[in-house]
Amino acid sequence: MTAPRTLPAHLAHPFSPRGRPDPYPAYRWLRENDPVHFDVTSRMWLLTAHADCALALRDPRFSAALGQRERVRDDELPPSMLTTDPPEHQRLRSPGALLMGPAAIRGISGGIEAEIGRVLDGLAGRERIEATADIGEPLATGVLARLFGLPSADRAAFAELAARVAVNLDPLAGPQAAAAGRAAMGELTRFLGERADAAAAAVRAGGEATPFGRLAADDRLTRAEMLGIASLTVVGGWKPLAEMVGNALHWLLPREEAAEQVRGGHDTAVSAVDELLRLESPIPFTARVTTEEVRLDGGVIPAGARVLALVGAANRDPAVFADPDELVVTRSPNPHLAFGAGTHLCLGAPLVRQAGALLLRGLLSRYPGLRPVGEPPSWAPSLVPRRLTGFTLAT
Ligand code: HEM
Repeated sequence: MTAPRTLPAHLAHPFSPRGRPDPYPAYRWLRENDPVHFDVTSRMWLLTAHADCALALRDPRFSAALGQRERVRDDELPPSMLTTDPPEHQRLRSPGALLMGPAAIRGISGGIEAEIGRVLDGLAGRERIEATADIGEPLATGVLARLFGLPSADRAAFAELAARVAVNLDPLAGPQAAAAGRAAMGELTRFLGERADAAAAAVRAGGEATPFGRLAADDRLTRAEMLGIASLTVVGGWKPLAEMVGNALHWLLPREEAAEQVRGGHDTAVSAVDELLRLESPIPFTARVTTEEVRLDGGVIPAGARVLALVGAANRDPAVFADPDELVVTRSPNPHLAFGAGTHLCLGAPLVRQAGALLLRGLLSRYPGLRPVGEPPSWAPSLVPRRLTGFTLAT
């Protein structure tokens, strides 16, 4: 193996506090100079080319189960689909579709529209709006409340738990924050468990069938596995969906032509959601471990190596995307990897596209004067999800 190459001194490491706000110059350097890069700081292999990331996400020699075992866990939670490889993975994923697959989303589409109407109504007459607290989080809470069939009285407690478990996404969370995140996970699992029986009973009695009720009534999984899927949905879904809104508005609001295209029609709004996720991927990387030596165009990765597929870098690879740093809301095809790829492709993607498109189109149509005000927002220090803080808007 040749000696690992290092980033030039003027480029901050993309995971360092200095590099996190704008990791793209470092991503570009790595992609152009060392696309299969051994990072001496994290002792991980960083993949930045689209072809290599797509291969790592699709090829069984890159194990998600081994990748997760690298993260120290001291909880009693069952393995989730995210942390298993086929065939065990499919056993968990198939019932998961009852909660968030396309049919489940179609079944609650009226409810999703109502939730978005509620979020938009809540902004009327407001002088100052905080993108995440006032739009993204109410959107994520409302949409997930529909999946789980939560009554209004449960929403505040649910949102509070969803915010607390989100720290489990961030590999940079310190030991204290990580311990708090795991404790919150236990609380969330209990919260959902207390609601599962009634939801399943309603389905069995032919009453109101919510997606969660259908999952809870399904007999393919143990109760712990079923609750593992339900809580993964909250950990993986609430915060990324909430933060997607600010990231999207950050790109859209200064570009009137693009905003006008989003107002123009649902299909363009859906295409815009994909394009905005490509440009600012809320989950900028995902981890795997090689089960054997793998030869890629850009280098050889040994067996047992920890690998990060940097989808945030792959999504701006000029070999795949023309004008990769530009927002092109009608980009087609758009083979971005912001939802992952292959067997672990995000199960929530149909929901994100539907809810994201309705929200952005509704927001820009109803509040055409929406604009950033005050201090410019800054990128939060967390790596996952990539998100803005202090993004204030006025209508
Ligand atoms: C903008 C928002 C979102 C983004 C960017 C996103 C991104 C991703 C990515 C990159 C993966 C693959 C991880 C890997 O391969 O290791 C994933 C998996 C997953 N996502 Fe999402 N996600 C989002 C929202 C959601 C929502 C709202 C839900 C649920 C309602 C959800 C549920 C899941 C589940 C269950 C998996 C695991 C799939 C599997 O392992 O088979 N996600 N997501």
